[in-house]
Formats: sequence, structure tokens, C-alpha cells
Amino acid sequence: MDHFLYKNGVLHAEDVSLSEIAQQVGTPFYVYSTATLTRHFRLFDEALAGMDHLVCFAMKSNSNLAVLKLMCELGAGIDVVSIGEYLKAKAAGVPGERIVFSGVGKTRAEMRQALTGGIRQFNVESEPELEALDEVAVSLGVKAPVAIRVNPDVDAKTHAKIATGKSENKFGIPISTCREVYRRAGAMAGIDVIGIDVHIGSQLTELEPFELAFSRVAELTGALRADGHDIRRLDLGGGLGIPYERSNTAPPLPVEYGEVIRRTVGHLGCEIEIEPGRLISGNAGLLVSSVIYLKHGAGRDFLILDAAMNDLVRPSMYDAHHDIVPVIEPEAGAEQSAVDIVGPVCETGDTFAKARHMPALGEGDLVAFRSAGAYGAVMASEYNSRPLVPEVLVKGDQFAVIRPRPSYEEMINRDSIPVWL
Ligand code: LLP
Repeated sequence: MDHFLYKNGVLHAEDVSLSEIAQQVGTPFYVYSTATLTRHFRLFDEALAGMDHLVCFAMKSNSNLAVLKLMCELGAGIDVVSIGEYLKAKAAGVPGERIVFSGVGKTRAEMRQALTGGIRQFNVESEPELEALDEVAVSLGVKAPVAIRVNPDVDAKTHAKIATGKSENKFGIPISTCREVYRRAGAMAGIDVIGIDVHIGSQLTELEPFELAFSRVAELTGALRADGHDIRRLDLGGGLGIPYERSNTAPPLPVEYGEVIRRTVGHLGCEIEIEPGRLISGNAGLLVSSVIYLKHGAGRDFLILDAAMNDLVRPSMYDAHHDIVPVIEPEAGAEQSAVDIVGPVCETGDTFAKARHMPALGEGDLVAFRSAGAYGAVMASEYNSRPLVPEVLVKGDQFAVIRPRPSYEEMINRDSIPVWL
């Protein structure tokens, strides 16, 4: 459930009309709902009720400072994958003890900065990384809290570009050989082995891969404890999918996912961490855009929008589906026709949807892309010298621009011309 509904014939974010935001901010823009973000975070928090746990929002899905601040106020931890994300989380007020550092390529400089600023744990993905972290921690005279990310060789049954838990993927240490790595880690002066980390992929629409992966983690917990490690925390990653198409059957709910966790690892007495991103932010955001032209092509019509692949890359990158709806509610039974919905960027790949059935729309009409709150603004670029799209946060009947649209001047002045040119 989200908080984007038609009221008096106009699509609203909570109690704010999207037409009104468009008038004040211009298009395209991203808009997020505080109520939806809050609700989604709580669904996870409640799904793990009764277990010692921390829901760590994967900020790669949406890293606006205001969203992070909201998550922080709700009591979330934050999963970061770069020192840039770490610093943003800190800037939003998240204490180091609630920040988990994931990622396959953390540099020594990043490790040093996180260890100095305070960190809940590093999720270590390789032996060279473990050695580097040990070195850095020893040089600082501290012990780095570590969970080793294991690769359980489980098929997440999702898009190949976002599956991470198969042995051919670059992530984690094979679960079959990780005991030796734990043994080495246990002997390192700068490493405090606290747990196990696993993340098998994103946009999972079935529970079975989670069940399989978590069961393997449970088994490993026993083995590692027998080896003498004090395994006290399990980070189970993120990945629960969201309904992108309203017409499709919805993926499992957080409460059902919570049941899988309880069933597979609940008896181990470990603190449970999860790292959901998409399910918290995805359906809490829209991308709102205006129609520039309706172009009648050879045998097909093109709805040309002022948003493009640089603003929302998911359709071109993953062939992802986003529902696209008019902001002014069409009359019941209004005639629909098939159009290709495209952006103005000079690539054929700048196509959001092919032969999509839409009511009659023309120049200046507003449309909203649903499910755009995750991996939307964060993946935007300035390709074709198009300034980054602004972001807006709504709460009840109020809204605020939480990232302004940069001026052309700002965009141009970031480059500089060397004196010898
Ligand atoms: N934890 C780790 C270690 C991850 O790599 C990810 C996502 C998450 C948590 C959060 O997963 P989520 O709950 O959001 O599924 N750009 C792609 C998605 C990439 C996901 C990368 N890792 C997309 O637009 O579909």
C-alpha cells in the first residue's frame, strides 16, 4: 500500500496535489511520501518483533539526506557501500553504531575513515579485504567488528544483473570454504569476528531462495561456533521484491519474510540484521514528468516526455516495467490507445515503455511513474547535459524540495578549462 491516490480527479502524494508541486517545482521531479516510507520501514521492524534485531535501510536505493534522517528517526540502521554513503548517513545524524559497511571493494582509506568515525560492522567479502582491514585496524590500535559475507550459491531467481548469491557472482566468500577464512580472521589482532553476512540478490519475488540461503547460514553458525567463534550477529541482507505492475500478483509480504527468518535462524540466539532498500523506498516514490509532444510515427505513436533514461535508467538498463499513469484521473471507460513512451535523449534505448495502453494525452499533460522511489534518483546522471532532477518530500499536506534542480550555470561551472587550451 502507498499514499499516492487520486483525490478530486488529481493524483496526490498524501494530501498534496502533484499538479500543484509541478507548478511550483517544474517537471520532471521525484516525489516521496513520508507516510509510505514510514509504513514500509515499520512493516519490517514489526516482522522481526520479538527477536533482537536492527533493520538497516540500504541507502543505495535512495540516499537523499531527508529520507535518511526520517529512517534515523524511525530507529533504522543504515547499510552503506562507500565512504560517500557513510558520510551522508553521518550527515543525516545516523550514529556510527548503526552503520553497516558492505561492498566488495572497500579501500584502506575508506576503512580508516569508518573505523575512526565509528562503525557497527564491516561486511568483509574477500581475504585480501580482510588482511587490509586487519592492517588498518592494527595501525589505529582498534579491533574492527566483522561479519564475513558468504556466498551460499543460491539462485535468487531474479534479473541476472541484480542476482548476487551464485558462485559465479563476484560477491562473498564461498560458503563451502569459508571456515578456513574464519579461522584466519579469528587469529588476526585487528579483527573481531562477530557474525555472518549474506545477501543473495534484489527484487526477489519468492521466499524459497531466502529460505535456502538462511538455512545454510544457520548450519554454518553451528559449524563456526563449534570451531570456537562467538557468532552473535547474522546480517541477512536485503532483496525482498515489490509489485511493479499493479496487474500482477504481489511478491510475499515482509511479515511472511519475517516468518522465514524466524523459522530458519530464530533459534540461534543471534541478533538479526536485515538490509532492505527497495521495499522501503520503491513504492514510496514517483517520478512526475510532462508530455512534450505526441508524435505520430510510422505505424505507431510516441509520447515524448521531459523525463529520460538519465533520470530513470531502470527501463533501459534492466528492461524494467514501471506503471505510468496520468496525473489527471481519466474518466471511467475513457478510450485508451497503445503508445511508445520515450524520453528526449538521443538513444533508442531511451524508451520507458512500448505499446503501453494510455488514455489520450497531449502537450503539457502530466504523467507519474510509479515505484520510482528506489534506484531512481540515485542512479540518475546528467547525460545529454540534462541537470539532475529535483526531489520533493511530502508529509500530510506539506511538501518540501529536498534537493533543488541545479541551474544550468551550476552544471556548466563544475567543469573547468585548463589555461593552456
Ligand atoms: N544489501 C546489499 C549488500 C545489496 O547489495 C543490496 C542491493 C541491498 C542490501 C538492498 O537490496 P534491496 O532490498 O533494495 O533489493 N539498481 C538495481 C538494484 C541493485 C541492487 C543492488 N544491491 C535496480 O534498479 O533494480
